[in-house]
Amino acid sequence: MADSQNHTGSDELIFFVNGRKVRRVVLTSSVNDTLICTLTRSVCPSVGLTGTKLGCAEGGCGACTVMLSRYQAEPQHYAVNACLAPLCSLHLVAVTTVEGIGSVARKLHPVQERIAKSHGSQCGFCTPGIVMSMYALLRNNPTPNMADVEEAFQGNLCRCTGYRPILEGYKTFTVSEVVHIKVFVLHFRQNRWTKRGLAIVPTKFGISFTATFLNQVHSAVL
Ligand code: FES
Ligand code: FES
Repeated sequence: MADSQNHTGSDELIFFVNGRKVRRVVLTSSVNDTLICTLTRSVCPSVGLTGTKLGCAEGGCGACTVMLSRYQAEPQHYAVNACLAPLCSLHLVAVTTVEGIGSVARKLHPVQERIAKSHGSQCGFCTPGIVMSMYALLRNNPTPNMADVEEAFQGNLCRCTGYRPILEGYKTFTVSEVVHIKVFVLHFRQNRWTKRGLAIVPTKFGISFTATFLNQVHSAVL
């Protein structure tokens, strides 16, 4: 069997990107192509997704992180560096990129929304990789603790934010924080008069401010 053939003896490589079937004929000359090349660059037939970023191209920064899923006895999910993943290793593998989990046009995934709300993204170059590392962690472990979250980001570098807002945002997925939020919400539901925020809607010169507008200044109105 030639080097470029898959286990069925065919030169055709089939994998899935965000649920879309992709077929590639692997030539001996392109056997060293990596996944990032196929996702974003024009030097090889491109899927045309630009969310995944190419930073160091040597596995050091994590900007190119995507999730690979294989179905064996049960689905297995891995966060991998697309700049290191050989294209020929992806036969029958499902690739999920940052575009595949949500968008502003459709609906943001909570992993995307919480990093934005916690100001965990500045230049944004590292953000798709960080989002996909967190997404892969949650797919494997929906109730992580803080040590799991920190371990999941070991391969992701961010030059702008200093990591604190990223971890603050993603702390909300951890078991202890989820329990804390549930207790907080329960407390206010049971004590509905304890704090209700500003209840009046002032009007001056014909301009009115709605309760929603006033709530935007971080008043904890439940
Ligand atoms: S581009 Fe830096 S790890 Fe892939
Ligand atoms: S937001 Fe700029 S590198 Fe992370």
